Amino acid sequence: LNNGVARVPPMGWNSWNTFGCNINEALIRQEADALVSSGLRDLGYRYVVVDDCWFNPNRDSAGNLQGDPSRFPSGMKALGDYLHARDLKFGIYQVPVDRTCAQYFGGYPGATGSQGHETQDARQFAAWGVDFLKYDWCSPNGSIDQQVATFAKMRDALAATGRPIVYSINPNSIHAKTGPLRNWGDVANMWRTTEDITNAWDTGQTNGYPMGIQNIVNVTVPLASYAGPGQFNDPDMMEVGRGGMTDTEMRSHFALWAVLASPLIAGNDLRSMSTQTLAILGNRNLVAINQDTLALQATQIANDGTRRVLAKRLANGDVAVALFNQGSATTTVSTTAAAVGKSGTSFTLLDAWTNTTGTTTGSISASVPAHGTVVYRVSGGGTEPPPASFALASAASGRC
Ligand code: DGJ
Repeated sequence: LNNGVARVPPMGWNSWNTFGCNINEALIRQEADALVSSGLRDLGYRYVVVDDCWFNPNRDSAGNLQGDPSRFPSGMKALGDYLHARDLKFGIYQVPVDRTCAQYFGGYPGATGSQGHETQDARQFAAWGVDFLKYDWCSPNGSIDQQVATFAKMRDALAATGRPIVYSINPNSIHAKTGPLRNWGDVANMWRTTEDITNAWDTGQTNGYPMGIQNIVNVTVPLASYAGPGQFNDPDMMEVGRGGMTDTEMRSHFALWAVLASPLIAGNDLRSMSTQTLAILGNRNLVAINQDTLALQATQIANDGTRRVLAKRLANGDVAVALFNQGSATTTVSTTAAAVGKSGTSFTLLDAWTNTTGTTTGSISASVPAHGTVVYRVSGGGTEPPPASFALASAASGRC
């Protein structure tokens, strides 16, 4: 979406994975403070997204949305001001349809959807200082064409406010399998590719609830041509630091999100994260690969069912190469500089995890533990132009 924002994948934190409906303004402020004190804000984690359950179940007498006065007693604008004063950005959640997911499943009262209120609600968000809207379908009903039309209405309403607002949509909740097959770059800055993530490596789902890391990667890798400046596949908020996985798996999760040009939205409790978690989320080499200005998603170079190689071209001619072992035993994963689009005979390999460099005449190879991902930033030599198949939404939209 060419609306001036999200030219590289948005980074930040979202309340849902850890807290669900148990949110309030004190918590959001504490998480925001932790982004600052941990140094993550200065690495680029700027969007603080308040997910479901922030609102008063009833609109006011003028039909305006309101924050829940018991959870957000200072009001939503005050929360935006708090974030902006700390050089952070304000994200908020809403649905088009009658009920949010929390309301749909009966855990939270009311019916506050924006359908028919798009202009009024977009103005309200802008007035509160919202910089990011997560707009969640959350209904078992609605054809893909209805979804496109409905999501586009809010896109236009946000644009009409004149405020730059990242537009993040979820065409996929409850109504699984309608969303991921479309390039939504004509509608939104980012769109969920699967049902909800959980803190597990593999839940055995192809696209159902809930999705493990391996399962989401399988769905998202083939969508590489959809990604570019202003438009990103969204494999969901991260589960790094939430337990349920080994350290190797959590590193792999982060490395794969980084090369897939995924939005890097942390989902852990930042107030109590371990140094290990901070070292993963704060890996500068991987953040730089993710935030590269070409904004390309890695394409898959090889996959033999165990060993997968993904390559992401970078603006300065370097190529990030992910050597991913999805098998259950340590193995050597290999490719070559030529296979990832590099020409020449001498290259430098920066290992993103160890931050050490080596040289090669062409072989790119590593011993990778089960479920692990080694990432090399390959520099030197020449770089072939981006693949001809790369096309932005206007050219490539439509169901495949
Ligand atoms: C479904 C989404 O997929 C989640 O990320 C979260 O926003 C919940 N809805 C909130 O109800």
